[in-house]
Amino acid sequence: MKIGLGSDHAGFDLKGFLKTELKKDGYEVIDYGTKIKKSVDYPDFAEKLARGIQNKEIEMGVLICGTGIGMSIVANKFKGIRAARCCTIQDACLARQHNDANVITLGGRLLGQELALEMVKVFLETPFLKGRHLKRVKKIKKTEI
Ligand code: RB5
Repeated sequence: MKIGLGSDHAGFDLKGFLKTELKKDGYEVIDYGTKIKKSVDYPDFAEKLARGIQNKEIEMGVLICGTGIGMSIVANKFKGIRAARCCTIQDACLARQHNDANVITLGGRLLGQELALEMVKVFLETPFLKGRHLKRVKKIKKTEI
């Protein structure tokens, strides 16, 4: 699976760690930046990754800022993006099973590396359950302009 990673300065170190580990696991990874650790603005990187999903360069994405909140706010502005800010493995699992989320957003200042990696793996590997959840996701899509 081809996935995208993006972060601001607050998520830079975690992004680097996840990139290395996910590549080891066989994922094809596109890094949408930031490429250096100086202070940057998270909306710029959320937009780059969201556009990557819209133009089918990648299937799913991981966005990291200090809390994961800013990245989720921005990513969810883009049509076709369902970004879930996750703090636990259960969040990551349910965001896929119930919401068919295609972006996980993480708090680089809140999560340990190993927990973050486990959450990302669960997110990438868990299928959407469809069933009763499908009509709800369809309603989300209908609200998109
Ligand atoms: C940057 O200091 C911080 O505000 C940003 O990474 C993020 O947490 C915003 O939601």
